[in-house]
Amino acid sequence: MRRHYAEEGLSETDLSPDPVAQFSRWFAQAERAGVLEPNAMVLSTADADGRPSSRTVLLKGFDERGFVFFTNYGSRKGAELSVNPQASLLFPWYPLERQVIVIGRVERTGRDETAAYFRTRPHGSQLGAWASEQSSPVASREVLEQRFAELEARYPEGEGVPVPPFWGGYRVIPQSVEFWQGRPNRLHDRLRYVATESGWTVERLCP
Ligand SMILES: Cc1cc2nc3c(=O)[nH]c(=O)nc-3n(C[C@H](O)[C@H](O)[C@H](O)COP(=O)(O)O)c2cc1C
Repeated sequence: MRRHYAEEGLSETDLSPDPVAQFSRWFAQAERAGVLEPNAMVLSTADADGRPSSRTVLLKGFDERGFVFFTNYGSRKGAELSVNPQASLLFPWYPLERQVIVIGRVERTGRDETAAYFRTRPHGSQLGAWASEQSSPVASREVLEQRFAELEARYPEGEGVPVPPFWGGYRVIPQSVEFWQGRPNRLHDRLRYVATESGWTVERLCP
């Protein structure tokens, strides 16, 4: 599989006219190739002083408006995005010798969109979102489990769980999207879409 893509490479003429369509094609290929959690991506943010931080999150939707993930707005990433609403997303599809890197401005999703997604989550995950003050120190695991048990008693299975006000989605609006394909002799293909006033341009980068 890996060899097949490496031999074929990525050429300007193969590319879709827009990066979302191209992403969609590669995402489907990653799924077909059995990449474990192809929607897992490394999200990097930076604080007001430019100090970076990274973590994995799951992509929950993408279209021409951008790439969406859900998290706790009070987390470290949430705090960083509130002072510096810029992010990088990296999809590490190593079995295909591929990576995709999206860079762009970040906006919160609307509350309706957040609520619609929250309702699709398993009951336990809904309670987990309430139980966890994400990124804050906690005295012990027991404290977390105790909080969870209290929430379970308050909202038994089948009972609607409200969306936590401190929880929701972010959308990364791509300013550039790079598609990286491993090739022999380190002569890898790197094609990067860059947003302009009139649409997308594509440039090839040295590997
Ligand atoms: C495979 C995987 C998927 C994850 N998905 C999410 C996610 O979608 N949302 C989220 O808030 N955290 C997710 N996490 C946990 C984050 O990596 C991270 O620990 C958490 O969001 C706190 O990050 P922060 O303190 O930098 O804000 C995931 C972790 C892994 C390993």
